[in-house]
Amino acid sequence: MSILVTGGTGYIGSHTVIELLEYGKDVIIVDDLCNSKIGVLNAIEQITQKRAKFYEINYLEKEELRKIFEENNIEMVINLAGFKAVGESVEKPLMYYRNNVVGAITLLEVMQEFGVKKFIFSSSATVYGNPDKFPITEEFEIGHTTNPYGTSKLMVENILKDLYSSDNSWDICILRYFNPVGAHESGLIGENPNGIPNNLMPYIVKVASGELEVLNVYGNDYNTKDGTGVRDYIHVVDLAKAHIKAMEKLEKEKSGLYSYNLGTGIGYTVLDIIKNFEKVNDVKINYRITERRPGDIAICYTSPDKAFRELGWKAEKGITEMCRDSWSYIMKRKNIKKLLNERGY
Ligand code: WQD
Repeated sequence: MSILVTGGTGYIGSHTVIELLEYGKDVIIVDDLCNSKIGVLNAIEQITQKRAKFYEINYLEKEELRKIFEENNIEMVINLAGFKAVGESVEKPLMYYRNNVVGAITLLEVMQEFGVKKFIFSSSATVYGNPDKFPITEEFEIGHTTNPYGTSKLMVENILKDLYSSDNSWDICILRYFNPVGAHESGLIGENPNGIPNNLMPYIVKVASGELEVLNVYGNDYNTKDGTGVRDYIHVVDLAKAHIKAMEKLEKEKSGLYSYNLGTGIGYTVLDIIKNFEKVNDVKINYRITERRPGDIAICYTSPDKAFRELGWKAEKGITEMCRDSWSYIMKRKNIKKLLNERGY
């Protein structure tokens, strides 16, 4: 029996595939490489000494998906395929709804056809909109999302709720990620967005490495300890391990619909992250305070209690590992590039 992972060569996907392979699972990756590189497969093999089966397809291609289900014995699907840039989603809503929502529906329809009803969905803290009390728990109302990316996640959550109501033989786990950062300790995989990063940590890394000149801190007039935005950053390896716990839950339960917030329960401001990054990596981050970013909320952090109570999961890596691993991944890539240049590759 195999676990099918859509988006399995992506940032969260590759770290999750590593945990699945090390757990002893057979893994099938479906990814169209629009946001990742084929070299990730070799990195995964180098880390785990195992190879995932790989299909380079877009999960919107229903006939191709059907073939995969025909050729393989799939026990569960983890859906990590999806566009995730908030700003881009505001400019290109149709692209986001087609990929994130229609893609998920296509996948679920093929699963239904083949009687595969165990499903883990990567959702996001953005489905909570702009709550006015903290920490956020799973009992909070979801909705009032402020951008098409967040709304696409909310739409799929509502689709899953209706699907389960129509047929409660489904076994579904919704995982609401807070702010994933960091990289595998090997330095062989990590987050390395092409071009100008949207998110804070990859931007800081590019400023520290000299690739970008200055970090814009989006506003210091929020009602927080130093005026800058507060987020619940979670190490991507902790996040990946949470998927293993969710998989075990679905293997144990015959059916059900579950949702869990995945964060550390600790909120850090933007200036906290800058200071920690500088201290851990002995680098200087050049930054300036600018206007708020439209759509940003002031504070967002969770209580991780329910995931601990019901999945037996909690984050183990702190801000030091998050900053260290984010930096070592990029430094490793730069050193490899330098070595190849010196040898004329
Ligand atoms: C974090 C903080 C910014 C960049 C989004 C999605 C979420 C998830 C992560 C996918 C905020 C500040 C940022 C910069 C800055 N997406 N910032 N300068 O917006 O909390 O969450 O990305 O997994 O679902 O909603 O993350 O990293 O963009 O911002 O000052 O150049 O850093 O204002 O306070 P965000 P982020």
